[in-house]
Amino acid sequence: MRSAAAGTINLDMAGREVRIAGWVHRRRDLGGLAFLDLRDRSGVLQASAGPEWSSGAAMEAVRGLGLEDVVAIRGVVSPRPEAARNPGMATGDVEVRIVELEVLNRARTPEIPVYVPPEEELPSEKLRLRHRVLDLRRGELQDRLELRHRLILAARNYFHAQGFMEVETPILTKPTPEGARDFLVPSRVHPGEFFALPQSPQIYKQLLMIAGFDRYVQIARCFRDEDLRADRQPEFTQIDVEASFVQPDDIHAWCEGLMEKLAEVAGIEAPTPFVRLSYRDVMERFGSDRPDLRYALEIRDFTDVLGALDFGILRGAVARGGRIRGLRLEGGAHLARRQIDAIEEAARTAGAPGLLWAKAQEDRATGPLARFFRDDTRALLGLARGDLFLAAAGPDPVTSPALDAARMAAIAALDLPRTTEHSWLWVTGFPVFEDAGGGELAANHHPFVQPHPGDIHLLDSNPLAVRGLAYDLVYNGTELGSGSIRPHDADLQARILGMLGLGPDEIRLKFGFLLDALRSGAPPHGGIALGVDRLVARLSGAASLRDVIAFPKTTAARALFEGAPTAVADAELAALGISAGVRE
Ligand code: AMO
Repeated sequence: MRSAAAGTINLDMAGREVRIAGWVHRRRDLGGLAFLDLRDRSGVLQASAGPEWSSGAAMEAVRGLGLEDVVAIRGVVSPRPEAARNPGMATGDVEVRIVELEVLNRARTPEIPVYVPPEEELPSEKLRLRHRVLDLRRGELQDRLELRHRLILAARNYFHAQGFMEVETPILTKPTPEGARDFLVPSRVHPGEFFALPQSPQIYKQLLMIAGFDRYVQIARCFRDEDLRADRQPEFTQIDVEASFVQPDDIHAWCEGLMEKLAEVAGIEAPTPFVRLSYRDVMERFGSDRPDLRYALEIRDFTDVLGALDFGILRGAVARGGRIRGLRLEGGAHLARRQIDAIEEAARTAGAPGLLWAKAQEDRATGPLARFFRDDTRALLGLARGDLFLAAAGPDPVTSPALDAARMAAIAALDLPRTTEHSWLWVTGFPVFEDAGGGELAANHHPFVQPHPGDIHLLDSNPLAVRGLAYDLVYNGTELGSGSIRPHDADLQARILGMLGLGPDEIRLKFGFLLDALRSGAPPHGGIALGVDRLVARLSGAASLRDVIAFPKTTAARALFEGAPTAVADAELAALGISAGVRE
């Protein structure tokens, strides 16, 4: 049916007869001549029908074409007249003069346009998701999905070359809480019993290490029934990696090698080795465990200077064990009141009661905080004329997210320059536990993190201070991947599960199979999982994960094209031994 792909036709082929096939992208009639742009995956090509080279039937057929009809064309490659050349089009020097045209299939009038002129806005995302097949015909989405394909292929090849082996792990798994929510699958043959879709292959990849597959990789689909945020989909893909006899540095080196390759595919920079900062350090300097280091702006501790002022709010915060930290924004004094209010609002949304600020004007300081300044405060804070100063007072868990939000809002408001376009960062030494309130501990990431050897002695006395051999890969403020070295000692693993509030029976029931395996001769092991969707979105500059997934879910966790999830008939449920309970 085809001798060439439309996008590959060029001047060198002039005079040759070709057979091409695809969709009617655009069409126009110019009196005696009729033109159509034919589109296939490789690109768009102009074809023309004219009385000198086309049969009467072909002329007729072209005139009767509608957008998105599917056609096959036999024609001759011809140079376009100089004036008709289009340098903006890959095939803009040529056209195919139609000899014969066959309509392979008609399309009904498309609900959304496939060709959207650059100056026009796309239809709403909801409409585009509802008509996803048409939307997927757009070059931009096709390019992104092709990039996704090439990145995954490069990742597979890279790990293969490093001696990793791809092993498929089950999709029907044991329900095991790993910090987020399981999608449950009822078993028909065992009424009342359930499988869970994997939130990640975490335990299986550890079992594979124990089984001796010392370098594992899998392009793995994961499922999490959690509340969606901008960077999350209920089903997503990981490049999941695990290896035996390794330390964090080995995992970092493999990932850096991978990122070099992937950056090459995406045409961006990933100079290695990546910056490494400890969790404590990034929380102190940026208030976030995934800071965007394209901007130099840092948070500083001003407790000494500001805690000494005669200002009850600040003194009270310090007396309660808090600190006063802030941001010095060079040249920020020109921001209008409403812009500063917007930055404060960002800090409030992140959980702080408010921000205090001062502007260093000509010879004095103004703003709510400045009223309490002493003669030397401005100098002690290092404020130069024209600077804006923002501060938050209180315990770190409150001020860190607030100052992170204020930092990003101030960067946007002041349009601060970037020091680099590509910031790659390892954050290391995440805590093993976090405070779940009421004296309880929760896993900071998941329960399979090896405590740092220097902190193991704190497990009983000060568990919240125990750092884990855990690390995240962060790119321009997005967490791309996360991993750790795992406890390979069964007693230590059981102890950690116990500290997370699981009783001995629950541990046996939920994790007995893992602990038994760990007792069967488990090598030291560790790994990482990188989010493919986030990776492709960031490397392609896509605004949303939905732009790099063929059939994504909405933020309301629905599939709009096929219409899922749906209710199912009571009879079907009965066969599974379950009832749906409350129905709208
Ligand atoms: P974690 O839960 O941090 O770790 O996930 C690893 C990476 O997967 C991506 N990711 C997501 N992407 C899109 N939508 C989501 N809902 C979503 N959730 C996670 C992120 C994230 O960095 N088993 C561990 C890894 C390990 O320890 O080896 C795990 O799954 O890019």
